Amino acid sequence: MNIPIPKGTFDILPQYPDPKDLWRHSDLWAHIESVIRQITSDYGFKEIRTPVFERTELFTRGIGETSDIVTKEMYTFLDKGNRSMTLRPEGTAPVMRAFLEKKLHISSPITKFFYVSPMFRYERQQAGRYRQHHQFGVEAIGNNSPEQDVEVIDLLYNLYNRLGIKNLTLHINSVGNASSREKFRSVLQNALRPHLAELSDDSKIRFEKNPLRILDSKDPSDKKFLASVPSILEYLDEECRDNFETVCSLLKAIRIPFTTNAHLVRGLDYYNKTVFEITANELGAQNSIGGGGRYDGLIKSLGGPDLPAIGFGTGIERVIQTMLGQDIEFPAPPCPKLFIIPLGSAARERCFCELQRLRRLNIAAEMDFSGKKLKNAMRYANTINAEYCTVIGDTEIESGKLELKHMNSGETRTTTFEELTKDIIDD
Ligand code: HAM
Repeated sequence: MNIPIPKGTFDILPQYPDPKDLWRHSDLWAHIESVIRQITSDYGFKEIRTPVFERTELFTRGIGETSDIVTKEMYTFLDKGNRSMTLRPEGTAPVMRAFLEKKLHISSPITKFFYVSPMFRYERQQAGRYRQHHQFGVEAIGNNSPEQDVEVIDLLYNLYNRLGIKNLTLHINSVGNASSREKFRSVLQNALRPHLAELSDDSKIRFEKNPLRILDSKDPSDKKFLASVPSILEYLDEECRDNFETVCSLLKAIRIPFTTNAHLVRGLDYYNKTVFEITANELGAQNSIGGGGRYDGLIKSLGGPDLPAIGFGTGIERVIQTMLGQDIEFPAPPCPKLFIIPLGSAARERCFCELQRLRRLNIAAEMDFSGKKLKNAMRYANTINAEYCTVIGDTEIESGKLELKHMNSGETRTTTFEELTKDIIDD
């Protein structure tokens, strides 16, 4: 029976013969994750791992009852105890749940977290949208200063820089606080009311429930009316306006280019003040490579203290696809230093001992266990990009002399079992 992989998911494998699948190659994923670990360490963020599923209520309360994620996209099921559970569609609410449950605001000085985790959203299948995607996210809790906003944006921007990604656009906006949003909500409704009948079905529903979300609708029937609606930035109160201006001037000070986009509101309802998104042309319609913002009310709404917080998420699939779209070279994956081919059954034990000796010295080495013909074993050594290869039979064991072949140049030289380590390391 051939059971296919679920729609919208994919395997990350060490080998993908078709170049269009290269973005699923595990070496590429390992590279991104190692750069993530380095950059988070440089910025003082610590790793957090939360469960793949949580109580559904965490997301309905956290992300917002009217958001697309909650209304259409969650993988929700009843467990055997009849409790409603949901596969994590995003990482922010679970990190807040863990933070509150363990009272980390009281017991721990660590307030900056990162995660690299799979997320699950029942999306309509299309390029760049998966039902299981992987996010690198950060959450910085407890600080409401504009420097904290810019540190988080800078980390994301710098990650893309370190990976060699170019031509990105950083869009930023402020969605203000609850009272500025309330004021703007009725202004927006008044501006859109004359066109209500012509708006998309989603926007008609949002008109009453969450009109701000209409602003970032990609539907052409909405877009033509959005060009002329007032800007939320004109309805910010003094504190939110000052905050936004300082964020913009700090970004300029550290030379991060950005465009202010008054229509950016993001798809999750927990945001306030600064929101941002980074887009890449290579991604086509789903051009958001990463995004985030401030969510100062979320911890309180989950029953915790009134603590501000800000974070972002970036999809690793989209990061790799952008890199490949920009022809960015990935570092060569590590390869074995030596491939050992035993000739005859007597040599196998000696070769196996040699293999273990090298590995105990932290030298990457492999050996043919399958008794391939010499030509095939050599070909295999080439396929796995072994740097050297040696064939060991009775003659080599008796004489103690080995021939070491450099696979790239084809050059050979003679060494001994004693000198082997030195010879392959010193090269
Ligand atoms: P989000 O914008 O929903 O934000 O997702 C963040 C990033 O994840 C997107 O920019 C995109 O790169 C990637 N992504 C999202 N959905 C998919 C999908 N179906 N397939 C492929 N990639 C996808 C959040 O999830 C927030 N929790 C981010 C955040 C953290 N805000 C504050 N802290």
